[in-house]
Amino acid sequence: MKFFVDTADVSAITELNDLGMVDGVTTNPSLIKKSGRDILEVIKEICDLVDGPVSAEVVATEAEQMIAEGRKLAKIADNITVKVPLTWDGLKACKVLSDEGTMVNVTLCFSANQALLAAKAGATFISPFIGRLDDINLDGMELIEDIRTIYDNYGFETEILAASIRTPNHVLDSARIGADVITAPPAVIKALASHPLTDKGLDAFLKDIAEAGIKIL
Ligand code: E4P
Repeated sequence: MKFFVDTADVSAITELNDLGMVDGVTTNPSLIKKSGRDILEVIKEICDLVDGPVSAEVVATEAEQMIAEGRKLAKIADNITVKVPLTWDGLKACKVLSDEGTMVNVTLCFSANQALLAAKAGATFISPFIGRLDDINLDGMELIEDIRTIYDNYGFETEILAASIRTPNHVLDSARIGADVITAPPAVIKALASHPLTDKGLDAFLKDIAEAGIKIL
């Protein structure tokens, strides 16, 4: 399973990238706002840093404008993935940009039927939002399962990019179901390394090391 990091924070991406944890990056307008940086400048910096797809989202809502913005974004680097919302206009833009050879990530997906349309429009990635479904007491994981089944039934090559991931359990469940990619904030990726029994075990070893005066260097 591929790990994308869901942030526009270059230092956080660098830290995870140096550990080999970053197969790609996703951004959205809220993350760009949080970074406080110019979208074109920060996206270029991320594209140069990461050896994998970097999603940059269009800001228009009408297909022709989305296509124009997507073409401009695509010129930034070869690893740009143009992110479009799952609206009828977004699907039109997806089809045109995909046919031109640009990677497209269709975002804000909340139903399996939406994911079916995105695949038929040639999306490289579909981004179902798990956390936001959980927020309204729906089952985000059920959506990932349904999309996996449908894509496998018909051999769609669109990759399932499980998004709006808020917890390590979201990562685990996505991996069990067979999502192709997860995108998660840096803190969630780092939290995957934590286990209370690891901390407890290390404390006991450190006590014994100190008591026995064990040294290696
Ligand atoms: C990723 O592409 C999405 O923009 C992101 O995962 C949304 O996450 P959120 O629902 O926590 O804002």
